[in-house]
Amino acid sequence: MSARFLILCSLILTLFSCAEPQVKLLSPSIIPAPQSLQVNAGHFTINEETTLSNNDDFTASYNFLNNFLEHATDRTWKTEYSETNSIILEYDDSISSKEGYSIESNEHNITIKASTDAGAFYAVQSLLQLMPADHNNTTEIHIPAVTIKDEPRFKYRGMHLDVSRHMYDVDFIKKYINAMAMLKMNNFHWHLTDDQGWRIEIKKYPRLQEVAAYRDSTLLGHYNDTPHQYDGKKYGGFYTQEEVREVIAFAKARHINVIPEIEMPGHAQAAIAAYPELGCTGENVQVAMKWGVFEDIYCPSEETFTFLENVLDEVMELFPSKYIHIGGDEAPKTQWKTSDVAQQVIKENGLKDEHELQSYFIQRMEKYLNSKGRQIIGWDEILEGGLAPNATVMSWRGTNGAVEAAKARHDVIMTPTSHAYFDYYQSENDDEPLAIGGFLPLEKVYNFNPIPKELSDEEAIHVLGVQGNVWTEYMTTSEQVEYMAFPRMLAMSEVAWSVDENKNYDSFINRVEYFHKRLDAMDINYANHLYEIEGTLNEDQAYELSTKTIGKQIRFTTDGSEPDSSSTVYESPFPFTADMTLKAQVFDDDEPLGRLFTQELLYHKGVGATISINKEPHNSYPGSGASGLINGIKGSDSRYGDSEWLGFWGDDIEIEITFKEPVLISEIELRFYNAPGQWIYAPEEFSFYSRFESGVLVADKILFKNEFQSSLVDFKYEFGKYNKGYKSRNVKFIIPNYGIIPDGNQGAGNKAWTFIDEIIIK
Ligand code: ACM
Repeated sequence: MSARFLILCSLILTLFSCAEPQVKLLSPSIIPAPQSLQVNAGHFTINEETTLSNNDDFTASYNFLNNFLEHATDRTWKTEYSETNSIILEYDDSISSKEGYSIESNEHNITIKASTDAGAFYAVQSLLQLMPADHNNTTEIHIPAVTIKDEPRFKYRGMHLDVSRHMYDVDFIKKYINAMAMLKMNNFHWHLTDDQGWRIEIKKYPRLQEVAAYRDSTLLGHYNDTPHQYDGKKYGGFYTQEEVREVIAFAKARHINVIPEIEMPGHAQAAIAAYPELGCTGENVQVAMKWGVFEDIYCPSEETFTFLENVLDEVMELFPSKYIHIGGDEAPKTQWKTSDVAQQVIKENGLKDEHELQSYFIQRMEKYLNSKGRQIIGWDEILEGGLAPNATVMSWRGTNGAVEAAKARHDVIMTPTSHAYFDYYQSENDDEPLAIGGFLPLEKVYNFNPIPKELSDEEAIHVLGVQGNVWTEYMTTSEQVEYMAFPRMLAMSEVAWSVDENKNYDSFINRVEYFHKRLDAMDINYANHLYEIEGTLNEDQAYELSTKTIGKQIRFTTDGSEPDSSSTVYESPFPFTADMTLKAQVFDDDEPLGRLFTQELLYHKGVGATISINKEPHNSYPGSGASGLINGIKGSDSRYGDSEWLGFWGDDIEIEITFKEPVLISEIELRFYNAPGQWIYAPEEFSFYSRFESGVLVADKILFKNEFQSSLVDFKYEFGKYNKGYKSRNVKFIIPNYGIIPDGNQGAGNKAWTFIDEIIIK
């Protein structure tokens, strides 16, 4: 069988069976994509005689592979070299990348070469992905003949997990780490402390276990639901030091470093509940029962510093990680402003304000950790008031923090909410399980470019890598964590590992489709949105449907009925000239796949007009551009991050719509999103102007009270009373930003966001 034939077969089918020889070979579908992969003629067969040839330097890789093979083949493997039937781990110091490797498989052997155990370990992960997902208890495993040369793009490839808001048992933490290892990720960021629970045993402070680890009750539903309701059940627990050691050892055997996060000075309410003297008020507080940002933060007293140093001593004893994450995010300064202790520290140290006090706090902790040979990582707020000299910054509020830090020659890790927050919704489907908000579909994660364009090549060297964050307010079970993390973790692994030239979303999606079998074999509850349909109105006012998987059909109806295997197959965009309810579904021949797509299309007088906005929407929330405000499609009532909502951060905006022909307007409706928990505030007023066909201009200011009762302010007003029967040439809206977020709210002191879609003109 020729190589060309083999490659052709593998291109046609993911799993295929060629006439000669009679084996099923897998088309390589490795995630993350290796730097180079060539499929050759032939294959290697693991049979009952195959041996494993070890190299003394590759202990973790050898152990991992040996365990895997023994389990898969249900036999003990001999460790010896055989010229004709071995999997060989070979040291090769010509492989300069510490995490790089090569694999050569042919009919005689599989040879893995690397210059470190880490490189060999990643080779093993690729090798396992050359095997079928359902290999268990088979006597023979066939592996295609390939030549792979590979190394990572970034040296930091991380996943985060918040275990404060909800907690998961050690078995699950290991399962999560195991999946990370499969994807060649190398840093597990363990978010161990927060307002809602302290989760690591600190022997010197028993009340952290007795008090800080438990909350009396937990918020039900979404934070934006009013009034807040609680379940009335005590919730909590903590990881013993023994368990922490077990997790770290498990991770180490997979070349994963575990970075503990001990939050300071904010997100400290649980610790203050246990030891009120750590706060500035001295008052008793409870471990938080709802989500958000709280004003009870550590007071910058000597007592607090001693406490934190003692805590970190025990943490450092457990965690060998060079990096210790000290949080630093979302620390309201309200209590520091009125605290004698805090004001005294400001005075004694010649600090300008409470931001400099936060910087003083972090720098002092950095000095302590540096003195023990460790380095700090902090969220990007640690830039405010002056960055600690050796700190690495985790940029989460967009990428500006990363730009500022990298320009100042500090290392950065990219975790912007826009591309790395796996607690956001991944589908616009209304039946997605409750999530915090936002919208981060797989494709957006995949297309994340971690190097901000503002950085020169030299500055970009400071971008160590990327990380997916899993905040767990709305993830009560480990199954839910899996649903939110997979498959987005797969996409992030490719962002972290694969060079741009090897990244291709269509190829990735096809690999994900096969990868489902691997995730099934690992009993991972992944989300499957591969067969979802996207609909957009194109520039010709025609409606387009698309789906990501190839080789399938989309069938649709426009009369509200559910499509079946006899419904029209979508072939090209169709005109949008009337209201319609579109329903569409992906079919594989007669079999419907995935979920039904439903879109209400509202044919109003703005559709097809020209629109301009004085400001660009924020690049994290561009919706479908200005024209998306008048495309007949309303933004979701519950997902502000979908492809319709346009988000503006702090800007006053002016929107002008000019009609092709003058139109008689009876009503105008503006829709704003409202989610104070996510810093999104509908405005409390806007003005409009309209020039009539006659040349007359009208203007008015509309005021309305925002009660924050729902996630939507859907504001309609009668326009007929202004126009007296005259047609309008254009309408213009001036929409001021809500302003600075008031004290006592999440994001207090920051500019509010404005989200708008759609402007409906009847
Ligand atoms: C964060 O999401 N507060 C870092």
